[in-house]
Amino acid sequence: MTADRLGFAVSLARKAGALAQSMRDQAGGLDYTIKAPEDYATNADYAVEALIRQRIAETYPEDGVLGEEEGLQGRVDGCWIVDPIDGTTNFSRGMDDWGISIGYFNGASFELGVIYAPDKNLMASGQAGRGSFVNGKPVDFGMVHPDQVRLVSLGYSDRQPMHEYTDRIARIREAGMDHRRHGAATIGFIGILSGWFDAYYERALNIWDAAAGLAMISAAGGVVEHGPIQTFVKEPVRVLAHNGRIPDIARIMDPPHSQAAE
Ligand code: IPD
Repeated sequence: MTADRLGFAVSLARKAGALAQSMRDQAGGLDYTIKAPEDYATNADYAVEALIRQRIAETYPEDGVLGEEEGLQGRVDGCWIVDPIDGTTNFSRGMDDWGISIGYFNGASFELGVIYAPDKNLMASGQAGRGSFVNGKPVDFGMVHPDQVRLVSLGYSDRQPMHEYTDRIARIREAGMDHRRHGAATIGFIGILSGWFDAYYERALNIWDAAAGLAMISAAGGVVEHGPIQTFVKEPVRVLAHNGRIPDIARIMDPPHSQAAE
C-alpha cells in the first residue's frame, strides 16, 4: 500500500524546492561541478538530492533511491527515482523553467510522481488509480480544444544526432503542428498536465528526468511510451508522452524505418 507515499512526495518536493531557491539566491551564488562537456551540477543539485535521500531513508528505509547525482542505492523494485533539479542550466541562470522530480517505481510501473516547479509556483502530482492534479486541480485531457494548434515539447541533448532533432521539427511543422523546447523535461511533462502542450518527446532521456512525469501522465489517462525498463534504469531511452489527442504522434516523431522506431 503506497497511498501515503504521494503526500510524502509532495511535501518533500516543496522542501526541496525551497532549499534550491535559497541556495541560488544566497550571497556568493552557486558552485559548479563539471560532469561532462555541456553537463554540470551545482552545489544545490547535490544538497537537494542529499535532503531527498535523507528523508526517504528516515521514512521508507526499505525503499531504494535512484538519483541523478548519486546513482542507485538499494532495491529497484520499490524505488524512488529522483532528479533533484531538472533544468540545471535554466535554474543556475535565473530562469524559471526547472523542477524537482520525484517518482516511485513499484517494480512493474511508474506508480506515482510529483514535479514541483518552484519559480512557477506549480505543483503537479499523480498516482495510478487516483488521477493527476496541478495545484490541486484535476487534470482532464478531454478539455483540450480540438481546434487548437497542437504543440509538441521537445527535449534535445548531444546524446542524439542533431539532424534527427531538426528532421523531427520539420515533420512537426509539415503535420500542421508546432514545437517548443524548454531545456527541462519536467516542464514538458508539467506542460502536458497543464494543457500547454499535447506531447513531450525526447530521443534519449534519462529515467530520473522522466519517471515522475510518465507516472502522472499515465495516471491522468494519457499515453506513455519508453524503451524497456531494464535498459531505462541504466541508460537513456526514447520517451514519448502525450494526452491522446494526436492519433499519429508516434509516427510523426519516428517514422517507420527511422532508427528510433526500430
Ligand atoms: C536535462 C533536461 C533537458 C533534457 C536533458 C536532461 P538536467 O536534465 O531535462 O531538457 O533535454 O536530456 O538531461 O541535466 O538539467 O537535469
